[in-house]
Amino acid sequence: MPENFYLRPNVVMEPLVHHWYAWSHLIPPATAARNETERHLRIMDSFIRSPEAHAAAVKDPKLLGGPFMDLSEDHVDLVKQLADETRNSPLANLSQAICQLDAMLRANAKGYSLEPLYAMVPEPLRGYVELVYDLHNHASFRLLEPLIYKSDFYNPKLQSLMLSVITGDDRPFVLSTPRFKEKNCVHLSTPFASEQIDFLFQLKDRPATFPAIKDRLGLSDEDDEVFSTFLSTRPGRKYQLYDGNAARWRYFGHACILVEAGGASILTDPVLSYTYENNISRYTYEDLPDVIDCVVITHNHQDHLLFETLLQLRSRIRTIVVPRNASGSLQDPSMKLILRQCGFNNVVEMEEMEEAQFGPLHITTLPFLGEHGDLDIRTKLAYFVRVNGHSLLFAADSCNISPEMYRHVHAELGDVDVVFLGMECSGAPMSWLYGPLLTERMERAQDQSRRLAGSNFERGNAIVEQFHSKEVYVYAMGQEPWLNYVMSVKYTPESHPIVQSNQLLEACRAKGIVAERLFGEKEILLP
Ligand SMILES: [Fe+2]
Repeated sequence: MPENFYLRPNVVMEPLVHHWYAWSHLIPPATAARNETERHLRIMDSFIRSPEAHAAAVKDPKLLGGPFMDLSEDHVDLVKQLADETRNSPLANLSQAICQLDAMLRANAKGYSLEPLYAMVPEPLRGYVELVYDLHNHASFRLLEPLIYKSDFYNPKLQSLMLSVITGDDRPFVLSTPRFKEKNCVHLSTPFASEQIDFLFQLKDRPATFPAIKDRLGLSDEDDEVFSTFLSTRPGRKYQLYDGNAARWRYFGHACILVEAGGASILTDPVLSYTYENNISRYTYEDLPDVIDCVVITHNHQDHLLFETLLQLRSRIRTIVVPRNASGSLQDPSMKLILRQCGFNNVVEMEEMEEAQFGPLHITTLPFLGEHGDLDIRTKLAYFVRVNGHSLLFAADSCNISPEMYRHVHAELGDVDVVFLGMECSGAPMSWLYGPLLTERMERAQDQSRRLAGSNFERGNAIVEQFHSKEVYVYAMGQEPWLNYVMSVKYTPESHPIVQSNQLLEACRAKGIVAERLFGEKEILLP
């Protein structure tokens, strides 16, 4: 009898797009194009000019998250080749066309009819845009997103997976460094929509023979030795479904929380640790039910919509709820279309103040203001969950810039027993994430004033007071060390978000409110 093998619980899968770690702006052609030329090419050219400067910068904790590549000098030739490919790719033309279209509109759209300007739309974008004014005669364009995905600008052949074994929390920051083949890694040229990914991760509890695995994944003989280190004849730990009478929530790190009740489950912003020996207790992939009824995504930042985790869970997720976007604006691509391109056929878009029900778990979506540099980005929602007479608010990075909004929500929904609130209240400047989308230089002072910042003490406290909450959990602080590869924050006790959230915790406790900044893991039963 040929032996059956399971996938080990500590096999890391890094999804890549053209060698770069896949985050959501690398899927839609327009945002991918701008990031390829305005982020990746710039970093690569800088590395080619001075690899030693990059080597020094990645060692400096103050520069964490900055545009520096974590690669040795002997990678210069590989990077040169990737930079050449990037410069000569169809996406480079698309990026340039976006820049030209903006310039054309600035020069010609003066409040008169836009119809004559269609003849001046750069060729790569013809038929893929509608030219529009807002009510102040500011001209811009609306991308016909579903059509662009059908064009040659969307190339799933550039998508691949890099597999390796992880034994500790230490992973390099992945957003500034392209990934090349290394020893002990297997690189699969698998598009994200491929069912091969489901097959691979179902091997965690549905074993198969080595020849069957090799055949299904299209592995080459030269990968045999490394790939066999990813497999084991022993199954992983089996998850015990929560079957108590209460509802239960468990904190998995950052903004990821599993709520279970009556056999149904909701998972917020899935970001998970793999399973390996470590000294910080945590829930991992092995602590999830076989079927997750609903995944909810709060917003389109790389630490909340993480393909690495979502793709591994894809076959287990019944429904993914995402916020609806502002149709066609460059800075706000449709999450639904992004996920559909990545093989999720069960995506439901919701708008503010809508409702959905999963078993005894009832969801109302709430507005999520701020934290996006004042850009018109609509893919943001907070989730208000009612279960067994309890109410929980998952506010993620919502910034309470308009407390009256919560007053209106309170008038509609009443009190909230438990508030989960992110308090990353320093925030990167707007350009850190959205800079590649800008086609005109922005003044530094403007950029610095428009931050990707969540609620501070005063703003968080106003939410707690408005909803008369009994429990407050500060979460989504990126503090878990197993998330360092996508987070660029390292706090000290003096860091502004820590000082501000401490202040909130103290103020809450002084009023008899249960208050805690979550770290690692937490479990609470709601009777
Ligand atoms: Fe965020």
